Amino acid sequence: MTNTKKLTIIKPDDWHLHVRDNKFLPSVLADTTKRFSRAIMMPNLVDPVTTTDLAEEYRDRIIKALPSEYKLTFDPLMTLYLTNKTNASEIKKARDSGFVHAVKWYPAGATTNSSKGVSDIVACYDVLEAMAEEGMPLLVHGEVTDPSVDIFDREKVFIDQFLEGIIKNFPDLKVVFEHITTEDAVKLVETASPNVGATITAHHMLLNRNALFKGGIRPHHYCLPILKREKHREALINAATSGNKKFFLGTDSAPHTKSTKENACGCAGIYTAHGGIEFYAEIFEKAGALHRLEAFASFNGPDFYGLPRNRDKITLVKKPTTIVEEFTFGDEVCVPFRAGGELIWSID
Ligand code: DOR
Ligand code: ZN
Repeated sequence: MTNTKKLTIIKPDDWHLHVRDNKFLPSVLADTTKRFSRAIMMPNLVDPVTTTDLAEEYRDRIIKALPSEYKLTFDPLMTLYLTNKTNASEIKKARDSGFVHAVKWYPAGATTNSSKGVSDIVACYDVLEAMAEEGMPLLVHGEVTDPSVDIFDREKVFIDQFLEGIIKNFPDLKVVFEHITTEDAVKLVETASPNVGATITAHHMLLNRNALFKGGIRPHHYCLPILKREKHREALINAATSGNKKFFLGTDSAPHTKSTKENACGCAGIYTAHGGIEFYAEIFEKAGALHRLEAFASFNGPDFYGLPRNRDKITLVKKPTTIVEEFTFGDEVCVPFRAGGELIWSID
């Protein structure tokens, strides 16, 4: 009799997710709802979600597109997109809504659909003050946009130029340093107050920057922040598997159509929702830390956000399956992470 490895954990949440909009919603929500009870919905739509009213409309579209078996149980946690013009009064409205759980700071021009983001964070200080008062977390895309800064250094320079100052000036503000990619970010989060946490993606723990150029240019490994060198990948695995409560799961699964990825100017973003928890199981097992997966995936996030932990459970089995080459995405297709390759763990 074979002894299949199994692991039952409280159903996780995804604290950083892109599901896009309208015709794109059903396929990606099917993958997410199988694995996660809740997900923080990124607001970087083509027309960004800048207000509570827009977040409510987006939430309604998401709920409408949910698979029927998860319509009553999956909770989309909405976010607002911070701009230079965000009004401090919007924060109270967002908090009172009960469905807006964070505000996202995209430095203008840093990544996909960020052109309407923040070009002057000082102009937002009254908003940050209101957020600290309301206990509304600030989610940070931590990269500088100065084109003279090397793309592999943009996170480190952001820490030095912006993040340390924000944390110091707003000690009561909850800050999530999103999709961290460097040992510098790990160190900052470890040494900061309990108000500072971080999400870590699976792809930044599975690949280093060589994967961008293995045998030729690999557009499906292009994301932002860009993959980093090996020592940083190792620092992320150590942080995620350390048991430190400040680090939690955020896939940053970010679907783009195949044609916009395989392009002379390809979009940034990697789709990982089809293995949203399975890829992490693979990483934690390899690190000898499977016993810490549940806290990372299911406890640390809600504890940081001040939300209840989930009650449902899921069981993971170490049973390899083959990942599809592509899947239908709206009226186009999307190439998922590790397309055609193996998913080592699966959901029972
Ligand atoms: O790779 C990324 N894709 N990084 C981001 O910050 C945005 C995301 C997207 O929306 O496609
Ligand atoms: Zn993202």
